[in-house]
Amino acid sequence: MITALRGMVDIIDDAPKYEYILNTAIDCAKRYGFNLIETPILEETSLFRRSVGESSDIVGKEMYEFADKSGKSVCLRPEGTAGVVRAFIEKKLDRANGVYRFFYRGAMFRYERPQKGRLRQFHQFGVESFGEKSVYEDAAIILLARDIFDALGVKYTLEINSLGCVNCMPQYKEKLSAFLNANSEGLCEDCKRRADVNPIRALDCKNEACKNIYENAPLMTDFLCDECKQDFNDLQAILARNNVAFSLNKKLVRGLDYYNKTAFEFISAEIGSQNAIAGGGRYDKLVEHLGGKPTFAVGFALGVQRIYDLVNAPQNQREGVYIGAIDNEAIGDIFSYASSLRQRVKTFVEYEPKKLAAHLKNADRMNAKICAVIGENERANGAIWIKDMLEGKESKPKLDEWLKGFDI
Ligand code: HAM
Repeated sequence: MITALRGMVDIIDDAPKYEYILNTAIDCAKRYGFNLIETPILEETSLFRRSVGESSDIVGKEMYEFADKSGKSVCLRPEGTAGVVRAFIEKKLDRANGVYRFFYRGAMFRYERPQKGRLRQFHQFGVESFGEKSVYEDAAIILLARDIFDALGVKYTLEINSLGCVNCMPQYKEKLSAFLNANSEGLCEDCKRRADVNPIRALDCKNEACKNIYENAPLMTDFLCDECKQDFNDLQAILARNNVAFSLNKKLVRGLDYYNKTAFEFISAEIGSQNAIAGGGRYDKLVEHLGGKPTFAVGFALGVQRIYDLVNAPQNQREGVYIGAIDNEAIGDIFSYASSLRQRVKTFVEYEPKKLAAHLKNADRMNAKICAVIGENERANGAIWIKDMLEGKESKPKLDEWLKGFDI
């Protein structure tokens, strides 16, 4: 038997929940003025190397990267931002000087060690906003994520940090790098490497010994330039004024390299160790870095599967009509009736003649509200046998009237 690859799951039983999460997120995003964007799942590998960054685990260890038939190095997208930025530049929107807001949803691929909440193919819903410098946009993006989780009934805590900008981050990185080198004996191999490549990545290390050492590490927020400090203070004031509870996590650095200034994560206390249900922040240098005109940008993405256990999708109500026949002669007729019903109502049609009990069982399995059956008797009288599966009532209306007056 061929099974799905490790860490990759079919969406079957969870399909109603999956659909409910995405529909809710899309509704919220549209209310904030975001429009749909779809970008390819397969991109040139260099796109992710240049944006997500060589020092990240995603690029360093987790990419589904291979040569296509022409020998070009391509990669299944590990995240959505890089592709959206590539499309934004390719469409020359960076030269139009407007504000553009996009939402997307789709499969992402990371070759991680699968465990609860951590898949190799998972789905994100994300938004990216381009062209807005104001920190109010950072706040709006956070409020949007808040609205989505509130609408889904998901409880969370919000952590925020500032990663500074090109003016202040380099000095901080130097300080941190010096700290890492001074403490290198106690650090894991990854962090020793990070000290030179991208020291802030070290703060994300899960190794207990490293974490202990980082208790005394210098923190970015102590090195922010005046503008970054102002923006970070403003962001906190805006969130407080709009009743968004948050805490400062001064070691929050995110797992991707493109961020500056605002970085944030929504965390759930109810799902074990893979507890980040959404993450995002500002990335004002990425458009330029990928060859576009300098463009302010901020966004976030949430993990659809991460919140499965936190969401109670509304129970599917019985809906629509199931129509079947007792004998072969009626099959052609019911197929035509079904075609007409489908113009108005969800309709299931059964092509095999069956006994009444079997039709009722089918209608129940398909969650139909009405089970409609035609046999010899009904045909002779121009009637149809009906059972309302919700109320349990049975009737035998005239077929023409029933079809005409159908209202469910
Ligand atoms: P990220 O933090 O790497 O950010 O991923 C966002 C969310 O995707 C995570 O918070 C988590 O819920 C979910 N996720 C990540 N990896 C997995 C996995 N292996 N299995 C299941 N769920 C997972 C980004 O991807 C950025 N592109 C977000 C962003 C958009 N920043 C700015 N704009």
